[in-house]
Amino acid sequence: MATWSAPGKVFLFGEHAVLYQKPGIALAIRPRVYVTVRRTNHPHQAKSPYIDQCFREFGVKGSVYINSQLPSSSGLGSSAAVTVATLAAINDEFDMGRSREQIAEMAWKIEKKVQKGRASATDTTVSTYGGMFLIKEGTRKRLAPQNYHLVIGNSQISHSTSRMVEKVAELKQKHPSIINPVLDSIEAIVMDAMKHLDEPVYLGKLMDMNHNLLETLGVGHPQLSRLVLAARSTGAFGAKITGAGGGGCMVALAPKNIRARIAGAIEVFDGRAIITCIDTEGLRKE
Ligand code: PMV
Repeated sequence: MATWSAPGKVFLFGEHAVLYQKPGIALAIRPRVYVTVRRTNHPHQAKSPYIDQCFREFGVKGSVYINSQLPSSSGLGSSAAVTVATLAAINDEFDMGRSREQIAEMAWKIEKKVQKGRASATDTTVSTYGGMFLIKEGTRKRLAPQNYHLVIGNSQISHSTSRMVEKVAELKQKHPSIINPVLDSIEAIVMDAMKHLDEPVYLGKLMDMNHNLLETLGVGHPQLSRLVLAARSTGAFGAKITGAGGGGCMVALAPKNIRARIAGAIEVFDGRAIITCIDTEGLRKE
């Protein structure tokens, strides 16, 4: 029996734009997903297409037990965390000898396959290695981990990442002269953020701007706007949608001493709040 865990992630900047050759900044967060794999002649029915695909990639059969503290389909990268942890647990249980690098690659391939289209390497990279990364197309640059205090607000409105990705593509096709500069502006935010990673007040302003640009891309939702405004008006440095949008989660960067107050404001507006910080550890054997 082998148990491995992997963290969730938030996009600080650049979601959607990363699918158009732009850079993005994302970091691993608590909570994590725990996956136990056991060799057996009587494999359990696969619980998700991601897990199914993990066993198929390795060409083995086994049983799986998932213990996830990450809400699924909410933009916190739970499918990537389940995928990398399942691959690592199979690799361990069946002595397949794959490296972390190979697991990250396999996980990205599985994400693309299951999502039947485009998926950036962001979720699978961050969940495999932990910490914070600048992601651009297939490349990654590890950034010095920062002691950010984050409050996540889950709108509990279900969303489909592929539907939101499609929606942005349609808008871009219909209004290229408007949408291309929006994507360029998101890129400019990411490049500016890179010079100010240890300045939360400055980053907060950039998060607010990135949020507005995501709204322009059509991935906002009234409930997400409420949570973003609740966080800002309670004293967050900045707040934005994180992930695909249209539902799912927002993230606020906050002064340490008012995290709980921001979480309270999010709950008042019917969101589920998670107070969290960076998880510098990626895949981990339990
Ligand atoms: O909602 P999530 O965590 O799947 O994030 C989607 C982010 C996108 O940039 C829209 C897609 C991607 O694969 O990066």
